[in-house]
Amino acid sequence: MGEQIKQILEQAEQAIAGCVDELSLQLLESRFIGRKSQLAGLINNLGQLSPEERKTAGMLLNQAKQEITEQIQKKRAELSAIRQKMATSRDVTLPGIKPEIGHLSPLTYINRELVDIFKELGYEVVDGPEAETETNNFDLLNIPANHPARDQWDTFWLKQEPDGNNNTLLRTHTSPVQIRYMQTHPPPIRIISPGRAFRYEAEDATHSSVFSQIEGLMIDKDINVAHLKATMLHFVRRILGEKHNIRLRPSFFPFTEPSFEVDISCGLCDGKGCKSCSHKGWLELMGAGMVHPQVLRNVGIDPEVYSGFAFGAGIERLTMLKYGITDIRLFLSGDMRFIKQF
Ligand code: FA5
Repeated sequence: MGEQIKQILEQAEQAIAGCVDELSLQLLESRFIGRKSQLAGLINNLGQLSPEERKTAGMLLNQAKQEITEQIQKKRAELSAIRQKMATSRDVTLPGIKPEIGHLSPLTYINRELVDIFKELGYEVVDGPEAETETNNFDLLNIPANHPARDQWDTFWLKQEPDGNNNTLLRTHTSPVQIRYMQTHPPPIRIISPGRAFRYEAEDATHSSVFSQIEGLMIDKDINVAHLKATMLHFVRRILGEKHNIRLRPSFFPFTEPSFEVDISCGLCDGKGCKSCSHKGWLELMGAGMVHPQVLRNVGIDPEVYSGFAFGAGIERLTMLKYGITDIRLFLSGDMRFIKQF
């Protein structure tokens, strides 16, 4: 009997040690110490032994049962601890959750391209505040007090008092950056300044209340319209393609004289006229001109010595032309289906 008990103990010990889950442990428990186990059979048969043998065998059987019970309890505690740890730690075998990767706006791509083009030409990139003073946005740019752009229907005023000298607004164009830069830097000047502008607009497919412009300014001795035109042509061809042509159409801005609208030949009909260009063959792209002598005087630059040109292009309009986008409102729609195409 002693040998038989020893064998049972060895088998139980080995099986319990190799057990890796709680369900299997339960099965081992009933196999080794359950009602139908070999050990239970031996205990049931004790009555057939002599009183002397029964005493020794009974003691051995009880010891064996206790030992197996203890081993099972210890294993159960171990497995339970492992289960709890796994529940609170990461399961590296689970399939991962793919993070949503953001996407650059097409405006950012065009902005970067524009900056690269002008940097190659030696321009410096400068920044200006979106909340501007009335003086920089209008007065020093030679825009008179009665100009309609100052009307509250056109401009988002932040502070507007009738006699206030410190009135502020959301800039209506990027041109006040010209003023800020010329006030602090003597010529020669070659800068571009991309940024946002704000106007109280009735929004439609080509007009937004929040839009972006790129401002350009060159001031030096003997700068003339030919320099302006060559720079515009180079910039348009680099960004939209060599097949495009430009034309300067007379226009009016209080801060440039002469002033122009720069049109580009329609890319769809090559200037012949189609639906996309309203059968004109040309599309309006930006405002430009030779910096007005009064603006130069306003910032302490002598117009008898220096001259220069400036331009301001709408970045959304450029991007729409480049990618064939038909509605400016898509840029701020937050629609990922739109943004993911670029
Ligand atoms: C200006 O803003 C002048 N500051 C440009 C300038 C700079 C002229 C330097 C001369 C010298 P204008 O209002 O035309 O001009 O705007 C320039 C460009 O900004 C337009 O050609 C257009 O491309 C874009 N733009 C203007 N208003 C909007 C709008 N509401 N939504 C989208 N783009 C606009």
